[in-house]
Amino acid sequence: MNTSDEFDLILTKQQRREIYQKCGLVPAKIATSVLNLIKLSLAARAMKSEVLPLVANTATAKLILERGQDLMSVEQPYAITLELTPEQRELIKNTVDKDWQRLMFCPDEHDNIAYIEQWEPNISAKRVEDSFVILPEGFDYSPSSSDKLIWLPRGDDDKTKNTFGKGYHPTTLTVLRLMEKHLKAGSSVLDVGTGSGVLAVAAARLGAKSVLAVDVDSNAVYTAQKAAELNDLEDVIEVKVGSLDSADGVYDSIIANLFPKVIISLAQEFSEKLVSGGLLLVSGVVSARAAGIVAVLETAGFEHHESVSLQDWEGLVFYKKTL
Ligand SMILES: C[S@@+](CC[C@H](N)C(=O)[O-])C[C@H]1O[C@@H](n2cnc3c(N)ncnc32)[C@H](O)[C@@H]1O
Repeated sequence: MNTSDEFDLILTKQQRREIYQKCGLVPAKIATSVLNLIKLSLAARAMKSEVLPLVANTATAKLILERGQDLMSVEQPYAITLELTPEQRELIKNTVDKDWQRLMFCPDEHDNIAYIEQWEPNISAKRVEDSFVILPEGFDYSPSSSDKLIWLPRGDDDKTKNTFGKGYHPTTLTVLRLMEKHLKAGSSVLDVGTGSGVLAVAAARLGAKSVLAVDVDSNAVYTAQKAAELNDLEDVIEVKVGSLDSADGVYDSIIANLFPKVIISLAQEFSEKLVSGGLLLVSGVVSARAAGIVAVLETAGFEHHESVSLQDWEGLVFYKKTL
């Protein structure tokens, strides 16, 4: 192998399942250059490590080796340790001349995994919590007087088909549960990463006086705008492309169903965009990462109030500390 070659470690099904439980993502492989692999192996040997860090660079490798555990703190990257199969060990040994039995990697370095969710094959009305009912456009449904209907575009076109937020994923479900409990009627709401607009519509149905829904993905913005129209909520919901930088002013509540690394990168801005004592509902976090996310948000000035879990996912409630 040439040092400029790409080194790909293909993961087994079992390893991918284990990774999913610890970070909620499923990379098919861990990739780096042969040169980086050799440098990392030398650095790890110099530190007398038993574990090979397969990360972007030796500086990150040193950080995670010094810490030596699977927990994330505010300054340090989140790392996952994997047992290697005999075939993987052989492959690595042929390149770095050392038999490593385990490796560590940082899932946040892998950003090629998209937010995609399609309708279940037999879509129908889906009741969520006591009052929300999520429906695909045109579905025949007789609501009861207490139902809060959330109509979503059916997804027949390429723009809306894959947009996340059909109401099946635990990350959406936990945040809907928390909204029903904590969101106050009359509040101003910022929905960061709106996807299909499902949470923006839910906020309006709970009586929010205004909702700004933002997303960096233009297909999501298109879909959320359609959802606002389908629900006759264009006067309450404004949809914009972008992230927190597209939101002017401050809000009573922020809802954010995002990957942990995005939450970490936006933690300080969440605080800047909220009124004192404002509500922050966070989702998109597997249970294994919840403690780390709480630590990051506490450092950014939030008080952790409550967590709910569903399958391996957690929804987290915070309030901005009053000064
Ligand atoms: C998991 S989906 C959530 C969709 C919907 N809110 C829900 O709860 O079902 C996350 C969405 O966040 C968007 N996103 C990712 N990074 C973002 C960022 N930095 N700012 C705003 N939106 C972002 C993605 O494009 C995606 O549509």
